[in-house]
Amino acid sequence: MPNHPAEPFRIKMVEPIRLPQREEREAAMKKAGYNLFSLPAEEVFIDLLTDSGTGAMSQHQWAAIMEGDESYAGARSFYHLKESIQKIFGFPYFVPTHQGRAAENILAALLVKPTSAIPSNMHFDTTEANIRARGGRPTNLVNDKAFEVGLRAPFKGNMDLQKLEEFIQATKVENIPFGSITITNNAGGGQPVSYENIKGVSEIYHKYNIPFFIDACRFAENCYFIKQREAGFADKSTLQIANEIFALADGAWMSSKKDAIVNIGGFLAMRDEKLYQAVCNELILREGFPTYGGLAGRDLEALAAGLMEGLDENYLDYRLKQTGYLGERILEAGVPIIEPPGGHAIYIDAGSIFKHIPQSEFPGQALSAALYLEGGIRSVEIGSVMFAHKDPDSGQMVYPQLELVRLAIPRRVYTQSHMDYVVEILKKIADNRQAYRGYRITYAPELLRHFTARFEPL
Ligand SMILES: Cc1ncc(COP(=O)(O)O)c(C=O)c1O
Repeated sequence: MPNHPAEPFRIKMVEPIRLPQREEREAAMKKAGYNLFSLPAEEVFIDLLTDSGTGAMSQHQWAAIMEGDESYAGARSFYHLKESIQKIFGFPYFVPTHQGRAAENILAALLVKPTSAIPSNMHFDTTEANIRARGGRPTNLVNDKAFEVGLRAPFKGNMDLQKLEEFIQATKVENIPFGSITITNNAGGGQPVSYENIKGVSEIYHKYNIPFFIDACRFAENCYFIKQREAGFADKSTLQIANEIFALADGAWMSSKKDAIVNIGGFLAMRDEKLYQAVCNELILREGFPTYGGLAGRDLEALAAGLMEGLDENYLDYRLKQTGYLGERILEAGVPIIEPPGGHAIYIDAGSIFKHIPQSEFPGQALSAALYLEGGIRSVEIGSVMFAHKDPDSGQMVYPQLELVRLAIPRRVYTQSHMDYVVEILKKIADNRQAYRGYRITYAPELLRHFTARFEPL
């Protein structure tokens, strides 16, 4: 049995949680239209819906919050954040945003047109939707290994460089306003991208004068994977590795609710001064003045501290080992996951547990619902509910290659016994898999439907 790492912190304050009775869980799901996003959090026992904004801040971050400068313009807290951002990312310009998608919206508003195509290893849902909302086409060019669920490769988040080169040649360069890469690759299992690959991607984009932006939500976890897995990096600090990665890019955006361990916040950073000016104008229109960008001064302080803490190697070692522990125990229970375990989450291969449920009946949704009904566990479907869409040319439904359920682990929140409980419930479901049925959508908006769709069990 794999070992659970000893947590490198002790608990100073607790938040009570409760497992509602089975009848309460059934009633809550019915009321929520079987969409786990619509459940009141009070009805959830273990909440693995997301690792975004759900981490436990440190005493240092809470102390920093008390020092927040709430000045409208030029707050001291902004300069603290600027210091952390420059130390890690090194871009000369940045604006804070209230979260990652606000940064994506600004970038898309300024750069994406209806003729645009934006390549990445894999865009996450909000990035994809922000590009589509401006009429552009997000294109995923991750390497094929990413789709081999059981294959253990060190950097399954890597972009396929040949596909990238072919894609650029087949698309007019002027139609590619920027290129991207997501580290780690959330939509593909939280798998890391190697430094070598990021360098290769950077060289290709720059050969064609395409600005290169990194979606940096989980950059610190990615850096620690590089340190552990990539030749030549074992003796470098995660901060040095981050410096080397971001030196390859023209900009980055970050939902800081992930690796900066804050409950809210993000930023958009860049090298190009002209772009920065346009970004500021867009920010002022929608988010706020460029020194707060929709955040309170105290949020900027928590973020400035959290960015540095997120790179702490003691913490990162525990973090990746906890995720690894959950993944290995789920595998021991006979449930397939994307291997090896990723950084922030375990991705269960729902399609292969529920082979009897076709993609049109949402096997991932069925497993997510079962996890809640059986054990009060909240997860998220990353399959056809999230990604199936009508092809704009053919009008045909396009289904994703994998039907996954993600168990995202909030940072510094749950302990070994919580992880063991999740494994027990999953095993119970897998052992009785034929008893579960698919779902039908009764309501769904056009974009980002998974957040608000309603379902009916079949
Ligand atoms: C890779 C990636 N990019 C962007 C986002 C969007 O960030 P936010 O939720 O802060 O808007 C997320 C959030 O989950 C993400 O995982």
